[in-house]
Amino acid sequence: MTKLTQADFQARRDRLAEQMGPRSIAIIATNQVYMRNRDADYKFRADSSFFYLTGFAEPEAVAVIETFDDAEEGYSYSLFCRERDREMEIWHGYRAGVDGAIDDFEADEAYAIDLLDEEIIEKLLDKDQLFYRIGQNADFDARVAKWIANANGESRRGTSAPEQIMQLDAILDEMRLHKDAQEIVLMQIASDISAQAHTRAMQAVKPGMMEYQLEAELNYIFGQHGCVPSYNSIVGGGQNGCILHYVENNQELKDGDLVLIDAACEYELYASDITRTFPVNGKFSPEQKALYNLVLDAQIAAINAVQIGNSYKEPHHVAVDILVQGLLDLGIMQGDKEKIIAQETYRQFYMHGTGHWLGMDVHDVGRYKVDGEWRNYEEGMVVTVEPGLYIAPDDETVDEKWRGIGIRIEDDVVATGNGPVVLTQAVVKTVEDIEALMAQA
Ligand code: GLY
Ligand code: MN
Ligand code: MN
Repeated sequence: MTKLTQADFQARRDRLAEQMGPRSIAIIATNQVYMRNRDADYKFRADSSFFYLTGFAEPEAVAVIETFDDAEEGYSYSLFCRERDREMEIWHGYRAGVDGAIDDFEADEAYAIDLLDEEIIEKLLDKDQLFYRIGQNADFDARVAKWIANANGESRRGTSAPEQIMQLDAILDEMRLHKDAQEIVLMQIASDISAQAHTRAMQAVKPGMMEYQLEAELNYIFGQHGCVPSYNSIVGGGQNGCILHYVENNQELKDGDLVLIDAACEYELYASDITRTFPVNGKFSPEQKALYNLVLDAQIAAINAVQIGNSYKEPHHVAVDILVQGLLDLGIMQGDKEKIIAQETYRQFYMHGTGHWLGMDVHDVGRYKVDGEWRNYEEGMVVTVEPGLYIAPDDETVDEKWRGIGIRIEDDVVATGNGPVVLTQAVVKTVEDIEALMAQA
């Protein structure tokens, strides 16, 4: 099993501490546990940035990084976590505890989470800057504000609280945006499992099946690998494929319709994000095929535009150009291509962007613009490429034969010095390959 090691998490903390400068403190909490109803909770998933720095997957944990006067002194990493508790562990499972935080998670100092309000004050004193992710959790924000007030209240001792509060995300998001080779390996594993799930769905689908039954085929593969979906799976038959965030997945899949599946899993907290659209009965109709091939042409050209030095927006421009030309050629749109693009009237059929950063979060962190300009692709950035066409079932501006067709094709692409690397190519996407795979089933 491929996993990151404590040395990897430590290297990330080293890089963070380096960028914080002297006399600084960073405070980062993991996710809350959310109640589903009464005493049943939603399954806990660690906060991505917290896990990125610590590898610690338990709830109720806070990491603190402190730098000192001089870089030579290094930095200190404290982990506040749940204490070991025999009774609680019998009911809810193993806890690392403060000893485990030091021995297994390499914290320099570890404290029971219940001591956070008390211990953090000493740590805040005489620091110039506090790095914190404000706005993630209102309750935690209020606690941090109170700590600063309490630290200021100590000023008669001749101490001071940080005068500057910095967005920790400004550093962490930039680190997370650029994936190293190990992160790409984890994303490749997530993509391979997700591709296997899509392949199974193509082989399993039959007219009369319910969308949720097809979703179950995906979940079977995710579960076989100990994975969970990285977002709510979309399984939309026929016109449901035109609903961008359709997650009900409760309708029957009909002979003659397409089904759009946007689903993938995460592996070691690294996400994949794949969409495939294929015919429920295994054979594309002429209209479905014409639109599908148009989206595929746009997608392949857009993937080729994920080149280091190209603008983040370049794949979108490339995709829109091809889609609009195709819509004109098919008679679905009329008018002047340049005007349609400039006025964005193509949004009647293609109303979303062509991709987003992908990483630990499906819509991953990282700025899209720097100094007011769309940023360029750099080594190790991972982006989705996901053009689509959606002809609304009630769109009377187009010939009836096109209505209710929704198509999206989505792959995950790494920008590298050797050109774009597609992580999700293990699942077929040409009409011929899809039909051949489905014919074998
Ligand atoms: N699955 C979410 C997205 O494609 O953006
Ligand atoms: Mn996506
Ligand atoms: Mn998707």
